[in-house]
Amino acid sequence: MASSLLSRQLAVCLQHNLRMGAPAGCRYVSKTATKTMVEFEYDAPSMKTEVPGPRSKELAKQLGEIQNVGAVHFFCNYEESRGNYLVDADGNRMLDLYTQISSIPIGYNHPSLMKAMANPNNLSTFVNRPALGILPPENFPDKLIESLLSVAPTGMTRVQTMSCGSCSNENAFKAMFIWYKLKERGMRLPSEEESTSCMINQSPGSPNLSILSFMGAFHGRTMGCLATTHSKVIHKLDVPSFDWPVAPFPRLRYPLEEFARENAQEEDRCLEEVEDLIVKWRQKGKPVAGIVIEPIQAEGGDNHASPDFFLKLRSIARKHGCAFHVDEVQTGCGTTGKFWAHEHWGSDDPADVVSFSKKMLTGGYFYRDELQADKPYRIFNTWMGEPSKNVFLSEVLNVIRREKLLEEVTRSGKALLQGLYELQSQHPHLLSRARGQGTFCAIDLRDENTRNDVIQRTRNKGVLLGGCGDRTIRFRPALVFKEYHAHQFLNIFSDVLRDYK
Ligand SMILES: Cc1ncc(COP(=O)(O)O)c(C=O)c1O
Repeated sequence: MASSLLSRQLAVCLQHNLRMGAPAGCRYVSKTATKTMVEFEYDAPSMKTEVPGPRSKELAKQLGEIQNVGAVHFFCNYEESRGNYLVDADGNRMLDLYTQISSIPIGYNHPSLMKAMANPNNLSTFVNRPALGILPPENFPDKLIESLLSVAPTGMTRVQTMSCGSCSNENAFKAMFIWYKLKERGMRLPSEEESTSCMINQSPGSPNLSILSFMGAFHGRTMGCLATTHSKVIHKLDVPSFDWPVAPFPRLRYPLEEFARENAQEEDRCLEEVEDLIVKWRQKGKPVAGIVIEPIQAEGGDNHASPDFFLKLRSIARKHGCAFHVDEVQTGCGTTGKFWAHEHWGSDDPADVVSFSKKMLTGGYFYRDELQADKPYRIFNTWMGEPSKNVFLSEVLNVIRREKLLEEVTRSGKALLQGLYELQSQHPHLLSRARGQGTFCAIDLRDENTRNDVIQRTRNKGVLLGGCGDRTIRFRPALVFKEYHAHQFLNIFSDVLRDYK
């Protein structure tokens, strides 16, 4: 009885959400931005107020009495948002190229996800959140095979789900440390001294091992992850950290094809430094158990490196007995035109660990068999992920396959990057270093204030953008972002730049 009532409510909600909103108040963009596909979403941005508008400001005041709202941009109306368009609390409808910090895979209120939500067979998965490590549901292995394992990176047959990006990385680091010590200890059981010393955070039980990371990296904000995050002071200030090695990340010149020789030299310099650091930290008594890296540094300013760099780094890790962890929290799930960004490297042995979250909807990490912890509770928490997210992920993967979204991302990404190149050549005093892979694109502004101002002006004209690094705009649309949307954005961005003094 209760369940049929709930399903009726969900069916009503589904009908409501599938109703096409009339595209009232569309502004003219340009003839080249003609919509080519029949979609369930809106046609164009529609702006009623500046953003944040009066309603958002009122809500910020109210929430400000409860918590810190310094980072809140504006309040949203998620019911009215569709596809690539986010609607705010003042009724402004914006083309979203930031997608909740790059975490919406197939747009807002996608009909396939609404359908999964309304399916009575999924109800118990949504209602009951299990402690997965001890009492998983009986369909859990099948659901993992259908969702996560169907996109497992080459060489990886194991996956551990987690809740967010940071806790995925945090636990992946622990898995690398455990793996390193198990290798060292061999068949020997932990000594009495190891068992007692770990309880008071002393070696040898809490060993002086380290993780090597890169300047500009972002791997999260929990204590271990924060020790490998080096993108912004605000994330790190006043928080104690580990003495772990930090290598330079290549600072390349763009377009990459034009500066291949200089860039290769820069990458070699960084790789040499990596090897030096590994040796130095071993001598210091803090051996490097793992190397962690993003395929494209995102939060740190969209910094790219070549496949050759990553393949050489992988070899260095192997040579020195370090695990190699590729953090695909932001680059994963199709946004670069391949399902995983590391697939662009063309390696059949890309990594020992690949972590994910954001567009994958569930956090977690894939890992090679050797990195399986030897005992239960070594990698553990209460929820260890969320099975309902696997249901949604299966639907997302179906949509990606059915609608050939990786090809779509490649196509719209090309249009986006080409447009950025053109704008950069029209506004050389404002724009530089256009770069990208798929729709994972970025461009630099002349300084931080200009970047922030351009983002604000573009938002008031109906396009939502995000920043990264100190003067970069990053483009992170959903996978349903089409060439049509790229042109719509470029027209609006072009207007903003033209008016910019
Ligand atoms: C590459 C990368 N790793 C880890 C994280 C941390 O993820 P979360 O914010 O879900 O903890 C992020 C978040 O932006 C990220 O971009």
